Amino acid sequence: MSADLQPLLDALQFSPDNLPLRQHLARQLNAAGRHQEAETLCRDGLRQHPTDDALRLSLAEAYFASNKHSAAFVVVEELLDKHADNAAAHLLHARLLLAAGQPAEAREAYAHALEINPGLADRDLGQALEAAAPARRVPASGYSPAPAPDADEPSPQDKLLGLERPKINFADVGGMEAVKDEIRLKIIHPLQFPDLYKAYGKASGGGLLLYGPPGCGKTHLARATAGEVQASFISVGIADILDMWLGNSEKNLHQLFELARSQAPCVLFFDEVDALAANRHDLRQSAGRTVINQFLEELDGATRSNEGVLIMAATNAPWHLDPAFRRPGRFDRITLVTPPDEPARAAILDILLRGKPLAPGVNTTAVAARTAGLSGADLMALVDGAVDVCLRASMRSGRPLPIEQSHLLDAAKLVKPSTKEWFATARNYALYSNEGGLYDDILVYLGVKKPG
Ligand SMILES: Nc1ncnc2c1ncn2[C@@H]1O[C@H](COP(=O)(O)OP(=O)(O)OP(=O)(O)O)[C@@H](O)[C@H]1O
Ligand SMILES: [Mg+2]
Repeated sequence: MSADLQPLLDALQFSPDNLPLRQHLARQLNAAGRHQEAETLCRDGLRQHPTDDALRLSLAEAYFASNKHSAAFVVVEELLDKHADNAAAHLLHARLLLAAGQPAEAREAYAHALEINPGLADRDLGQALEAAAPARRVPASGYSPAPAPDADEPSPQDKLLGLERPKINFADVGGMEAVKDEIRLKIIHPLQFPDLYKAYGKASGGGLLLYGPPGCGKTHLARATAGEVQASFISVGIADILDMWLGNSEKNLHQLFELARSQAPCVLFFDEVDALAANRHDLRQSAGRTVINQFLEELDGATRSNEGVLIMAATNAPWHLDPAFRRPGRFDRITLVTPPDEPARAAILDILLRGKPLAPGVNTTAVAARTAGLSGADLMALVDGAVDVCLRASMRSGRPLPIEQSHLLDAAKLVKPSTKEWFATARNYALYSNEGGLYDDILVYLGVKKPG
Protein backbone atom coordinates (compact mmCIF):
# COMPACT_ATOMS: atom_id res chain seq x y z
CA MET A 1 0.00 0.00 0.00
CA SER A 2 2.65 2.51 1.06
CA ALA A 3 4.92 1.51 -1.82
CA ASP A 4 2.12 2.34 -4.28
CA LEU A 5 1.95 5.93 -3.08
CA GLN A 6 5.68 6.63 -3.26
CA PRO A 7 5.76 7.61 -6.97
CA LEU A 8 2.92 10.05 -6.31
CA LEU A 9 4.68 11.50 -3.28
CA ASP A 10 7.80 11.94 -5.41
CA ALA A 11 5.76 13.62 -8.11
CA LEU A 12 4.34 16.06 -5.59
CA GLN A 13 7.88 16.92 -4.46
CA PHE A 14 8.58 18.02 -8.02
CA SER A 15 5.35 19.90 -8.52
CA PRO A 16 4.07 21.05 -5.14
CA ASP A 17 1.59 23.33 -6.91
CA ASN A 18 -0.30 20.46 -8.50
CA LEU A 19 -3.52 20.83 -6.53
CA PRO A 20 -5.47 17.83 -7.92
CA LEU A 21 -2.47 15.60 -7.20
CA ARG A 22 -2.27 16.92 -3.64
CA GLN A 23 -5.98 16.39 -3.11
CA HIS A 24 -5.73 12.86 -4.44
CA LEU A 25 -2.73 12.00 -2.31
CA ALA A 26 -4.35 13.39 0.81
CA ARG A 27 -7.32 11.08 0.28
CA GLN A 28 -5.05 8.11 -0.43
CA LEU A 29 -2.92 8.72 2.63
CA ASN A 30 -6.00 8.89 4.82
CA ALA A 31 -7.34 5.72 3.25
CA ALA A 32 -4.02 4.03 3.96
CA GLY A 33 -4.18 5.10 7.59
CA ARG A 34 -1.24 7.51 7.18
CA HIS A 35 -3.11 10.36 8.81
CA GLN A 36 -0.08 12.25 10.08
CA GLU A 37 1.33 12.55 6.56
CA ALA A 38 -2.11 13.47 5.22
CA GLU A 39 -2.37 16.22 7.79
CA THR A 40 0.99 17.74 6.88
CA LEU A 41 0.26 17.53 3.20
CA CYS A 42 -3.11 19.25 3.62
CA ARG A 43 -1.75 21.99 5.84
CA ASP A 44 1.03 22.75 3.37
CA GLY A 45 -1.48 22.91 0.56
CA LEU A 46 -3.94 25.08 2.48
CA ARG A 47 -1.28 27.75 2.88
CA GLN A 48 -1.54 28.36 -0.85
CA HIS A 49 -5.19 27.44 -1.28
CA PRO A 50 -6.76 28.35 2.05
CA THR A 51 -10.32 27.68 0.93
CA ASP A 52 -9.86 24.43 -0.96
CA ASP A 53 -12.71 22.13 0.10
CA ALA A 54 -11.08 18.84 -0.78
CA LEU A 55 -7.99 19.65 1.27
CA ARG A 56 -10.07 20.93 4.17
CA LEU A 57 -12.15 17.79 4.19
CA SER A 58 -9.08 15.54 4.09
CA LEU A 59 -7.50 17.57 6.85
CA ALA A 60 -10.60 17.21 9.01
CA GLU A 61 -10.61 13.51 8.31
CA ALA A 62 -6.97 13.22 9.30
CA TYR A 63 -7.68 15.15 12.52
CA PHE A 64 -10.67 12.99 13.33
CA ALA A 65 -8.75 9.78 12.74
CA SER A 66 -5.96 10.96 15.01
CA ASN A 67 -8.44 11.86 17.75
CA LYS A 68 -7.98 15.60 17.36
CA HIS A 69 -11.70 16.07 17.50
CA SER A 70 -11.93 19.76 18.30
CA ALA A 71 -9.59 20.63 15.44
CA ALA A 72 -11.71 18.44 13.17
CA PHE A 73 -14.88 20.19 14.32
CA VAL A 74 -13.48 23.61 13.53
CA VAL A 75 -12.42 22.65 10.02
CA VAL A 76 -15.64 20.82 9.16
CA GLU A 77 -17.91 23.51 10.52
CA GLU A 78 -16.00 26.18 8.64
CA LEU A 79 -16.34 24.14 5.50
CA LEU A 80 -20.06 23.60 5.98
CA ASP A 81 -20.54 27.27 6.72
CA LYS A 82 -19.51 28.12 3.17
CA HIS A 83 -20.66 24.93 1.44
CA ALA A 84 -23.74 23.51 3.06
CA ASP A 85 -24.12 21.10 0.14
CA ASN A 86 -20.96 19.13 0.84
CA ALA A 87 -22.36 15.67 1.61
CA ALA A 88 -19.05 14.13 2.70
CA ALA A 89 -18.53 16.98 5.16
CA HIS A 90 -21.96 16.35 6.67
CA LEU A 91 -21.06 12.68 6.99
CA LEU A 92 -17.87 13.48 8.86
CA HIS A 93 -19.80 16.00 10.94
CA ALA A 94 -22.19 13.20 11.89
CA ARG A 95 -19.32 11.00 13.04
CA LEU A 96 -17.86 13.85 15.06
CA LEU A 97 -21.17 14.69 16.69
CA LEU A 98 -21.75 11.05 17.56
CA ALA A 99 -18.31 10.82 19.12
CA ALA A 100 -19.05 14.03 21.04
CA GLY A 101 -22.16 12.45 22.57
CA GLN A 102 -24.69 14.42 20.51
CA PRO A 103 -26.57 11.60 18.80
CA ALA A 104 -29.63 13.66 17.86
CA GLU A 105 -27.53 16.23 16.03
CA ALA A 106 -25.47 13.42 14.54
CA ARG A 107 -28.59 11.82 13.11
CA GLU A 108 -29.57 15.09 11.56
CA ALA A 109 -26.16 15.56 9.98
CA TYR A 110 -26.25 12.02 8.64
CA ALA A 111 -29.72 12.53 7.22
CA HIS A 112 -28.45 15.69 5.58
CA ALA A 113 -25.54 13.86 4.00
CA LEU A 114 -27.81 11.17 2.57
CA GLU A 115 -30.28 13.71 1.30
CA ILE A 116 -27.53 15.22 -0.81
CA ASN A 117 -25.88 11.96 -1.74
CA PRO A 118 -27.70 8.71 -0.91
CA GLY A 119 -24.63 6.79 -2.08
CA LEU A 120 -22.87 7.75 1.14
CA ALA A 121 -25.09 5.42 3.16
CA ASP A 122 -22.97 3.70 5.77
CA ARG A 123 -24.55 0.80 7.52
CA ASP A 124 -22.23 0.82 10.52
CA LEU A 125 -22.73 4.49 11.17
CA GLY A 126 -26.48 4.10 10.68
CA GLN A 127 -26.58 1.35 13.27
CA ALA A 128 -24.43 3.26 15.70
CA LEU A 129 -26.76 6.24 15.39
CA GLU A 130 -29.76 4.01 15.80
CA ALA A 131 -28.28 2.51 18.96
CA ALA A 132 -27.37 5.93 20.34
CA ALA A 133 -30.69 7.66 19.73
CA PRO A 134 -34.13 6.25 19.14
CA ALA A 135 -35.54 6.91 15.68
CA ARG A 136 -37.68 9.96 15.35
CA ARG A 137 -40.86 10.00 13.42
CA VAL A 138 -41.70 13.07 11.41
CA PRO A 139 -45.39 13.70 11.93
CA ALA A 140 -47.61 14.26 8.92
CA SER A 141 -48.62 17.69 10.14
CA GLY A 142 -45.21 19.09 9.43
CA TYR A 143 -41.73 19.10 10.78
CA SER A 144 -41.41 19.08 14.54
CA PRO A 145 -38.04 19.32 16.21
CA ALA A 146 -39.19 17.39 19.28
CA PRO A 147 -39.23 13.60 19.11
CA ALA A 148 -42.74 12.15 18.87
CA PRO A 149 -43.78 10.17 21.93
CA ASP A 150 -44.38 6.94 19.98
CA ALA A 151 -40.96 7.08 18.40
CA ASP A 152 -40.48 3.39 17.63
CA GLU A 153 -41.16 3.64 13.89
CA PRO A 154 -38.04 3.67 11.75
CA SER A 155 -37.30 7.10 10.33
CA PRO A 156 -37.31 7.73 6.58
CA GLN A 157 -33.54 7.61 6.53
CA ASP A 158 -33.52 4.25 8.25
CA LYS A 159 -35.94 3.06 5.62
CA LEU A 160 -33.52 4.34 3.06
CA LEU A 161 -30.90 2.28 4.76
CA GLY A 162 -33.07 -0.81 4.47
CA LEU A 163 -30.37 -2.17 2.25
CA GLU A 164 -29.89 -5.91 2.32
CA ARG A 165 -27.71 -8.50 0.72
CA PRO A 166 -30.06 -11.46 0.72
CA LYS A 167 -28.50 -14.84 1.34
CA ILE A 168 -31.39 -16.76 -0.18
CA ASN A 169 -31.69 -17.51 -3.89
CA PHE A 170 -33.99 -19.45 -6.23
CA ALA A 171 -32.97 -22.71 -4.56
CA ASP A 172 -34.82 -21.48 -1.47
CA VAL A 173 -38.03 -20.93 -3.40
CA GLY A 174 -40.09 -24.07 -3.89
CA GLY A 175 -41.90 -24.51 -7.21
CA MET A 176 -42.82 -21.34 -9.12
CA GLU A 177 -40.83 -22.52 -12.12
CA ALA A 178 -42.82 -20.42 -14.59
CA VAL A 179 -42.41 -17.26 -12.53
CA LYS A 180 -38.71 -17.91 -12.04
CA ASP A 181 -38.33 -18.32 -15.81
CA GLU A 182 -40.10 -15.08 -16.38
CA ILE A 183 -37.83 -13.31 -13.92
CA ARG A 184 -34.77 -14.78 -15.63
CA LEU A 185 -35.98 -13.60 -19.01
CA LYS A 186 -37.23 -10.21 -18.05
CA ILE A 187 -34.93 -9.22 -15.22
CA ILE A 188 -31.85 -11.37 -14.87
CA HIS A 189 -30.76 -11.80 -18.50
CA PRO A 190 -31.00 -8.12 -19.36
CA LEU A 191 -28.73 -7.47 -16.41
CA GLN A 192 -26.26 -10.16 -17.40
CA PHE A 193 -26.24 -9.49 -21.15
CA PRO A 194 -26.98 -5.80 -21.52
CA ASP A 195 -25.19 -5.53 -24.88
CA LEU A 196 -27.19 -8.34 -26.40
CA TYR A 197 -30.43 -6.77 -25.29
CA LYS A 198 -29.33 -3.40 -26.65
CA ALA A 199 -28.36 -4.97 -29.99
CA TYR A 200 -31.94 -6.13 -30.38
CA GLY A 201 -33.25 -2.77 -29.35
CA LYS A 202 -34.69 -4.18 -26.15
CA ALA A 203 -34.45 -1.76 -23.30
CA SER A 204 -33.57 -3.46 -20.06
CA GLY A 205 -35.84 -1.17 -18.09
CA GLY A 206 -39.32 -1.74 -16.86
CA GLY A 207 -40.44 -3.63 -13.88
CA LEU A 208 -42.09 -6.85 -12.96
CA LEU A 209 -45.30 -6.79 -10.97
CA LEU A 210 -46.17 -9.89 -9.00
CA TYR A 211 -49.72 -10.28 -7.83
CA GLY A 212 -51.70 -12.94 -6.07
CA PRO A 213 -53.17 -14.17 -2.82
CA PRO A 214 -51.37 -13.54 0.47
CA GLY A 215 -48.62 -15.81 1.70
CA CYS A 216 -47.72 -17.36 -1.64
CA GLY A 217 -44.17 -16.13 -1.77
CA LYS A 218 -44.15 -12.81 -3.65
CA THR A 219 -41.95 -11.07 -1.12
CA HIS A 220 -39.87 -14.18 -0.61
CA LEU A 221 -39.31 -14.49 -4.36
CA ALA A 222 -38.30 -10.85 -4.79
CA ARG A 223 -35.69 -11.22 -2.06
CA ALA A 224 -34.47 -14.47 -3.62
CA THR A 225 -34.14 -12.73 -6.99
CA ALA A 226 -31.65 -10.30 -5.48
CA GLY A 227 -29.75 -13.20 -3.94
CA GLU A 228 -29.80 -15.06 -7.26
CA VAL A 229 -27.91 -12.25 -9.03
CA GLN A 230 -25.97 -11.22 -5.92
CA ALA A 231 -27.51 -7.79 -6.05
CA SER A 232 -28.42 -5.51 -3.20
CA PHE A 233 -32.02 -5.51 -2.14
CA ILE A 234 -34.11 -2.60 -1.02
CA SER A 235 -37.65 -3.30 0.08
CA VAL A 236 -40.08 -0.46 0.58
CA GLY A 237 -43.71 -0.40 1.50
CA ILE A 238 -45.30 2.37 -0.49
CA ALA A 239 -47.65 2.91 2.40
CA ASP A 240 -44.62 3.86 4.46
CA ILE A 241 -43.49 6.37 1.90
CA LEU A 242 -46.87 7.97 1.80
CA ASP A 243 -47.59 7.96 5.52
CA MET A 244 -44.25 8.88 6.88
CA TRP A 245 -43.03 11.23 4.26
CA LEU A 246 -46.25 12.97 3.53
CA GLY A 247 -45.64 16.31 1.94
CA ASN A 248 -42.15 15.26 1.05
CA SER A 249 -42.86 12.02 -0.77
CA GLU A 250 -41.60 13.09 -4.17
CA LYS A 251 -38.22 14.00 -2.83
CA ASN A 252 -37.99 10.81 -0.83
CA LEU A 253 -38.96 8.70 -3.80
CA HIS A 254 -36.21 10.34 -5.78
CA GLN A 255 -33.70 9.64 -3.01
CA LEU A 256 -34.81 6.05 -2.92
CA PHE A 257 -34.21 5.56 -6.63
CA GLU A 258 -30.90 7.39 -6.35
CA LEU A 259 -29.83 5.06 -3.57
CA ALA A 260 -30.79 2.04 -5.70
CA ARG A 261 -28.86 3.46 -8.67
CA SER A 262 -25.82 4.04 -6.51
CA GLN A 263 -26.00 0.44 -5.30
CA ALA A 264 -26.50 -1.19 -8.73
CA PRO A 265 -26.92 -4.03 -9.37
CA CYS A 266 -29.84 -3.68 -7.07
CA VAL A 267 -33.36 -5.04 -6.79
CA LEU A 268 -35.67 -2.23 -5.75
CA PHE A 269 -38.80 -3.88 -4.45
CA PHE A 270 -42.07 -2.06 -3.82
CA ASP A 271 -44.25 -4.15 -1.60
CA GLU A 272 -47.99 -3.44 -1.45
CA VAL A 273 -47.68 -1.15 -4.42
CA ASP A 274 -51.48 -0.87 -4.57
CA ALA A 275 -51.30 1.34 -1.49
CA LEU A 276 -50.32 4.11 -3.87
CA ALA A 277 -53.73 3.86 -5.45
CA ALA A 278 -55.63 3.06 -2.27
CA ASN A 279 -54.15 5.92 -0.30
CA ARG A 280 -54.75 8.33 -3.11
CA HIS A 281 -58.37 8.64 -2.04
CA ASP A 282 -57.42 9.56 1.49
CA LEU A 283 -54.95 12.15 0.43
CA ARG A 284 -55.81 15.38 -1.19
CA GLN A 285 -56.23 14.28 -4.78
CA SER A 286 -53.43 16.48 -6.06
CA ALA A 287 -50.89 15.34 -3.51
CA GLY A 288 -51.43 11.69 -4.37
CA ARG A 289 -51.24 12.48 -8.04
CA THR A 290 -47.85 14.17 -7.70
CA VAL A 291 -46.44 11.18 -5.90
CA ILE A 292 -47.71 8.81 -8.56
CA ASN A 293 -46.29 11.00 -11.28
CA GLN A 294 -42.96 11.18 -9.55
CA PHE A 295 -42.96 7.42 -9.14
CA LEU A 296 -43.70 6.91 -12.82
CA GLU A 297 -41.00 9.37 -13.82
CA GLU A 298 -38.42 7.58 -11.74
CA LEU A 299 -39.64 4.29 -13.14
CA ASP A 300 -39.25 5.57 -16.69
CA GLY A 301 -35.74 6.70 -15.85
CA ALA A 302 -36.77 10.17 -16.98
CA THR A 303 -34.31 11.94 -14.72
CA ARG A 304 -31.58 9.31 -14.49
CA SER A 305 -31.05 5.94 -16.14
CA ASN A 306 -32.14 2.92 -14.15
CA GLU A 307 -29.42 0.74 -15.64
CA GLY A 308 -28.64 -2.10 -13.28
CA VAL A 309 -31.68 -1.42 -11.14
CA LEU A 310 -34.22 -4.22 -11.24
CA ILE A 311 -37.59 -2.95 -10.26
CA MET A 312 -40.08 -5.36 -8.81
CA ALA A 313 -43.38 -4.78 -7.10
CA ALA A 314 -46.00 -6.90 -5.42
CA THR A 315 -49.66 -6.47 -4.67
CA ASN A 316 -52.72 -8.39 -3.57
CA ALA A 317 -54.97 -5.99 -5.41
CA PRO A 318 -53.71 -5.20 -8.91
CA TRP A 319 -57.20 -3.92 -9.79
CA HIS A 320 -56.66 -0.92 -7.53
CA LEU A 321 -53.55 0.05 -9.38
CA ASP A 322 -53.55 3.14 -11.54
CA PRO A 323 -53.62 1.97 -15.20
CA ALA A 324 -50.73 4.34 -15.90
CA PHE A 325 -48.50 1.83 -14.13
CA ARG A 326 -49.11 -0.73 -16.82
CA ARG A 327 -47.96 1.29 -19.81
CA PRO A 328 -45.17 -0.25 -21.91
CA GLY A 329 -41.80 -0.03 -20.23
CA ARG A 330 -43.37 0.12 -16.79
CA PHE A 331 -45.16 -2.82 -15.21
CA ASP A 332 -46.39 -3.90 -18.60
CA ARG A 333 -46.43 -7.57 -17.73
CA ILE A 334 -48.10 -8.63 -14.53
CA THR A 335 -47.49 -12.08 -13.20
CA LEU A 336 -49.80 -14.17 -11.08
CA VAL A 337 -48.18 -15.97 -8.17
CA THR A 338 -50.53 -18.85 -7.38
CA PRO A 339 -50.62 -21.11 -4.37
CA PRO A 340 -48.11 -23.94 -4.85
CA ASP A 341 -49.16 -27.11 -6.68
CA GLU A 342 -48.39 -30.52 -5.22
CA PRO A 343 -44.72 -30.85 -6.27
CA ALA A 344 -44.14 -27.24 -5.23
CA ARG A 345 -45.69 -27.91 -1.81
CA ALA A 346 -43.35 -30.86 -1.35
CA ALA A 347 -40.41 -28.66 -2.35
CA ILE A 348 -41.49 -25.92 0.07
CA LEU A 349 -41.90 -28.44 2.89
CA ASP A 350 -38.39 -29.73 2.16
CA ILE A 351 -37.07 -26.20 2.38
CA LEU A 352 -38.97 -25.48 5.60
CA LEU A 353 -37.77 -28.72 7.20
CA ARG A 354 -34.13 -28.21 6.20
CA GLY A 355 -31.81 -28.60 9.17
CA LYS A 356 -34.51 -29.91 11.52
CA PRO A 357 -34.26 -33.37 13.09
CA LEU A 358 -36.48 -35.70 11.02
CA ALA A 359 -37.58 -39.28 11.68
CA PRO A 360 -36.69 -41.72 8.87
CA GLY A 361 -40.32 -42.16 7.82
CA VAL A 362 -40.93 -38.49 6.93
CA ASN A 363 -42.27 -38.19 3.39
CA THR A 364 -43.04 -34.67 2.26
CA THR A 365 -44.65 -35.85 -0.98
CA ALA A 366 -47.34 -37.60 1.04
CA VAL A 367 -47.89 -34.45 3.11
CA ALA A 368 -48.07 -32.37 -0.05
CA ALA A 369 -50.78 -34.68 -1.39
CA ARG A 370 -52.99 -33.87 1.60
CA THR A 371 -52.53 -30.12 1.63
CA ALA A 372 -54.21 -28.93 -1.56
CA GLY A 373 -54.88 -25.19 -1.51
CA LEU A 374 -52.37 -24.32 1.21
CA SER A 375 -50.08 -21.37 0.56
CA GLY A 376 -46.40 -21.16 1.48
CA ALA A 377 -47.35 -19.25 4.61
CA ASP A 378 -49.94 -21.93 5.46
CA LEU A 379 -47.24 -24.58 5.08
CA MET A 380 -45.06 -22.59 7.44
CA ALA A 381 -47.89 -22.69 9.98
CA LEU A 382 -48.14 -26.43 9.41
CA VAL A 383 -44.45 -27.02 10.08
CA ASP A 384 -44.62 -24.73 13.12
CA GLY A 385 -47.50 -26.79 14.48
CA ALA A 386 -45.65 -30.06 13.93
CA VAL A 387 -42.54 -28.67 15.61
CA ASP A 388 -44.62 -27.60 18.62
CA VAL A 389 -46.09 -31.07 19.06
CA CYS A 390 -42.66 -32.62 18.69
CA LEU A 391 -41.16 -30.22 21.24
CA ARG A 392 -43.86 -31.01 23.74
CA ALA A 393 -43.25 -34.74 23.30
CA SER A 394 -39.50 -34.14 23.72
CA MET A 395 -40.13 -32.26 26.97
CA ARG A 396 -42.24 -35.10 28.27
CA SER A 397 -39.67 -37.76 27.40
CA GLY A 398 -36.75 -35.62 28.53
CA ARG A 399 -34.79 -36.11 25.29
CA PRO A 400 -34.92 -34.52 21.83
CA LEU A 401 -37.23 -36.44 19.50
CA PRO A 402 -37.24 -36.09 15.72
CA ILE A 403 -40.25 -34.83 13.76
CA GLU A 404 -42.46 -37.73 12.71
CA GLN A 405 -44.69 -38.06 9.67
CA SER A 406 -47.68 -38.20 12.02
CA HIS A 407 -46.75 -34.79 13.51
CA LEU A 408 -46.89 -33.31 10.03
CA LEU A 409 -50.11 -35.00 9.01
CA ASP A 410 -51.84 -34.05 12.27
CA ALA A 411 -50.72 -30.47 11.89
CA ALA A 412 -51.99 -30.47 8.29
CA LYS A 413 -55.51 -31.17 9.52
CA LEU A 414 -55.46 -28.01 11.63
CA VAL A 415 -54.36 -25.59 8.92
CA LYS A 416 -57.05 -24.12 6.68
CA PRO A 417 -56.20 -22.67 3.26
CA SER A 418 -55.97 -18.90 3.62
CA THR A 419 -56.31 -18.01 -0.05
CA LYS A 420 -59.98 -18.86 -0.73
CA GLU A 421 -61.29 -15.40 0.03
CA TRP A 422 -58.77 -13.79 -2.26
CA PHE A 423 -59.79 -15.97 -5.16
CA ALA A 424 -63.46 -15.17 -4.61
CA THR A 425 -62.66 -11.48 -5.07
CA ALA A 426 -60.18 -12.07 -7.87
CA ARG A 427 -62.67 -14.15 -9.77
CA ASN A 428 -65.08 -11.24 -9.96
CA TYR A 429 -62.46 -8.87 -11.28
CA ALA A 430 -61.25 -11.48 -13.76
CA LEU A 431 -64.76 -12.11 -15.03
CA TYR A 432 -66.08 -8.57 -15.12
CA SER A 433 -63.17 -6.20 -15.57
CA ASN A 434 -60.67 -8.26 -17.49
CA GLU A 435 -59.58 -5.65 -20.01
CA GLY A 436 -57.17 -7.04 -22.56
CA GLY A 437 -57.23 -10.42 -20.82
CA LEU A 438 -55.15 -8.96 -18.02
CA TYR A 439 -56.43 -11.49 -15.50
CA ASP A 440 -56.68 -14.54 -17.77
CA ASP A 441 -54.17 -16.30 -15.54
CA ILE A 442 -56.69 -16.20 -12.70
CA LEU A 443 -59.40 -17.71 -14.87
CA VAL A 444 -57.05 -20.43 -16.06
CA TYR A 445 -56.02 -21.20 -12.52
CA LEU A 446 -59.66 -21.43 -11.45
CA GLY A 447 -60.43 -23.69 -14.40
CA VAL A 448 -62.86 -21.16 -15.90
CA LYS A 449 -60.75 -20.74 -18.99
CA LYS A 450 -58.53 -23.10 -21.01
CA PRO A 451 -54.80 -22.31 -20.95
CA GLY A 452 -53.22 -20.63 -24.01
N1 LIG B 1 -42.42 -20.96 -2.88
C1 LIG B 1 -41.97 -20.83 -1.64
N2 LIG B 1 -40.83 -21.43 -1.26
C2 LIG B 1 -40.37 -21.32 0.00
N3 LIG B 1 -41.00 -20.63 0.97
C3 LIG B 1 -42.13 -20.01 0.66
C4 LIG B 1 -42.68 -20.07 -0.65
N4 LIG B 1 -43.82 -19.37 -0.67
C5 LIG B 1 -43.96 -18.87 0.57
N5 LIG B 1 -42.96 -19.25 1.37
C6 LIG B 1 -42.81 -18.93 2.79
O1 LIG B 1 -44.00 -18.31 3.23
C7 LIG B 1 -43.74 -17.04 3.80
C8 LIG B 1 -44.75 -16.04 3.31
O2 LIG B 1 -44.49 -15.73 1.97
P1 LIG B 1 -44.41 -14.22 1.44
O3 LIG B 1 -44.36 -13.29 2.57
O4 LIG B 1 -43.35 -14.13 0.43
O5 LIG B 1 -45.84 -14.13 0.76
P2 LIG B 1 -46.47 -12.93 -0.05
O6 LIG B 1 -46.98 -13.50 -1.33
O7 LIG B 1 -45.51 -11.82 -0.15
O8 LIG B 1 -47.69 -12.55 0.86
P3 LIG B 1 -48.44 -11.13 1.04
O9 LIG B 1 -49.26 -10.94 -0.18
O10 LIG B 1 -49.26 -11.35 2.26
O11 LIG B 1 -47.37 -10.12 1.21
C9 LIG B 1 -42.33 -16.66 3.36
O12 LIG B 1 -41.65 -16.04 4.41
C10 LIG B 1 -41.68 -17.97 3.02
O13 LIG B 1 -40.92 -18.43 4.09
MG1 LIG C 1 -45.50 -9.93 0.72
